[in-house]
Amino acid sequence: MILPVIMAGGSGSRLWPLSRQQFPKQFLTLDGSDSMLQSTVQRLSGIEHLAPLVICNEVHRFTVAEQFRANNLENSGIILEPAGRNTAPAIALAALTALRNGTDPLLLVLAADHIIKDEKKFCSAVINAENLAENDKLVTFGIVPASPETGYGYIRRGEKKTTEEASFDPGYNVDEFVEKPDLVTAESYLNSGEYFWNSGMFLFKASRYIEVLSKYCPEIVTSCKRSIELAQTDDDFIRVDKDAFESCPSNSIDYAVMEPLCKESGPCNVMVIPMDCGWSDVGSWSSLWEVKDKDAYGNAFFGDVMYVNTNNSYVHASEKLVTVIGLDNVVVVETKDAVLVSAMPEVQEVKKIVEKLKSDE
Ligand code: GDD
Ligand code: MG
Repeated sequence: MILPVIMAGGSGSRLWPLSRQQFPKQFLTLDGSDSMLQSTVQRLSGIEHLAPLVICNEVHRFTVAEQFRANNLENSGIILEPAGRNTAPAIALAALTALRNGTDPLLLVLAADHIIKDEKKFCSAVINAENLAENDKLVTFGIVPASPETGYGYIRRGEKKTTEEASFDPGYNVDEFVEKPDLVTAESYLNSGEYFWNSGMFLFKASRYIEVLSKYCPEIVTSCKRSIELAQTDDDFIRVDKDAFESCPSNSIDYAVMEPLCKESGPCNVMVIPMDCGWSDVGSWSSLWEVKDKDAYGNAFFGDVMYVNTNNSYVHASEKLVTVIGLDNVVVVETKDAVLVSAMPEVQEVKKIVEKLKSDE
């Protein structure tokens, strides 16, 4: 059975002024009426699955619980981290929680802050991956790359698996996994046509993940086991032991497991299933604009907005009516206490504003 594991511990600041430390991207509503976390749970409806397990920082526990309650969503627990140690330990906590309960489900590891436009294609890619994961493969989901993005992992596909069933995409062996290459390398991967972007979603057995992590990063497994053994549970919250977890090394699943496992010789352990589902990890306001539906002038918006003679822009109104006249290629974001106005191509520089605000505090 599939146990969705929702990683909601990020503290992204690239969508400032909407995202804040107390209210990061995964809890925001950027499209429609649901938050990114709520949408992550809701798009699972086409897959048979257990109630998801969420892993987040303890400061966000009430936000997570409230977002589940508001949409009548079930969870199998909310694991609370006293501090972020990146994704390899977060997933280990989920795997060890499941194993401690005497189960060994397939963990469907999901980021809580991705937009996926075609939910059917997302669900069918996961269903295609199930059999592979049951057979001890670690399955990744590959996105056809659109640019030489250096913030992603790259997956080189190897041999294509064959199957008798026409409706079933059996995926590819993974020949190489490279996390966050430099620009020149990313360009060469893009031009080769042999690479996918790593979507950051995975499917594997809980026991298989712990087995592989024990091989490459045994200290993470030791700290996480202790953190779970000494965890305190109240209602849905599973509060991992602070001292044990704070002693855990910080690493991502991509560096800790995927890169070394794909370098191993012998039978291929890692597979990739292509996922052509209108995916975006919404790393900036311009990437949100790219993925949104636009009007005939290339404008996308959220909330109470009016444009005159405006093109290729994104305007986000939280509290007030926002009007824009005679501008091209801009981002405007209005919130209760701050407003951002930026040229679209430079909007990633918002991180400089966030840094400056932090240093002024
Ligand atoms: N609970 C918990 N604890 N969640 C975490 C932690 C943590 O310490 N750190 C990150 N997360 C969550 C984030 O909220 C996000 O949903 C997800 O895990 C991925 O973390 P990021 O920090 O956003 O990773 P990344 O963007 O640098 O890279 C990953 O995602 C890319 C696609 O978006 C990698 O998997 C790349 O290979 C991939 O291409
Ligand atoms: Mg990310």
